[in-house]
Amino acid sequence: MARKIIIDTDPGQDDAVAILLALASPELEVLGITAVAGNIPLKLTQTNTRKVCEVASRPDVKVYAGAVRPMVRPLVTAEHVHGDNGLNGIELPEPVMPLQEQHGVDYIIETLMKEESGTVTLCPLGPLTNIAMALTREPKIAERIKEIVLMGGGYFEGGNITPAAEFNIYVDPHAADVVFKSGVPIVVLPLDVTHKVLTTEKRIAAIRAINTHPAEVVASLLEFFERFDEEKYGTDGGPLHDPNVIAYLLKPELYSGRHCNVEIEIYSELTMGETVVDWWGVTDRTKNAYFINDVDADGFFSLLTERLARLPNY
Ligand code: RIB
Ligand code: CA
Repeated sequence: MARKIIIDTDPGQDDAVAILLALASPELEVLGITAVAGNIPLKLTQTNTRKVCEVASRPDVKVYAGAVRPMVRPLVTAEHVHGDNGLNGIELPEPVMPLQEQHGVDYIIETLMKEESGTVTLCPLGPLTNIAMALTREPKIAERIKEIVLMGGGYFEGGNITPAAEFNIYVDPHAADVVFKSGVPIVVLPLDVTHKVLTTEKRIAAIRAINTHPAEVVASLLEFFERFDEEKYGTDGGPLHDPNVIAYLLKPELYSGRHCNVEIEIYSELTMGETVVDWWGVTDRTKNAYFINDVDADGFFSLLTERLARLPNY
């Protein structure tokens, strides 16, 4: 029985690869994809989500637009990383498939209330605004969510948008606070993992060698996406963040971490959006998240490359 998931996303080149990995994997049933404002504004993230579904030859996927801005703070975007349209690196045609009428937050609530309790996993790949708004609008969904497996935060690796905070959490720290206090089982794929998953030249060459159009799209997107971090970190390749959420669902044995308390800074401007992780158990705070800090990066790229090869060529 395939695992039912809803992907919440702000594509974003790395989000795009995560969506393609999910759509290429029969172990997962993507019930729907909700777009959120993050890397770039909502108008672009919902359009990009549909562009990516069409790269996977999946115009049947239901795509919804969610929150247009964070719950409290003004929207901060990341065109400096992702480019002006969020999928810079290769020109993709305007989508033909429709955007669903229903608001993404209402879709999340409706789906969780309709599907059997405890069977749907939420996979946020961007700011947590849609997830927090759904939990606030209908608190009953909290006990019905199987798990929230998200990309966000950092502890040993610090931050990437400020010295203290990772982008997804920083953009909507209040939403993250709602989610981490919701009592829903949470798995965190933070910078501590994604900084060990680098898009090296060899790994991108292996993806390009698949020699299909979807593989060329991924290789081109990653070659654009990595340039900012290669410059910043002085590495061969850059961290590949969001696909780790999907890879964790497919092969959890690639990852390791520990259950600990994670709380979100929502008051200090200096550390706004920091994930304060009690990794060493120095408090008696509730262990509300499984915080992952290690990954078999070669195993991740073998899985990603093998799955991308399954996408129909066109
Ligand atoms: O900090 C990395 C995260 O921020 C990724 O999800 C990337 O897509 C951006 O949203
Ligand atoms: Ca993202």
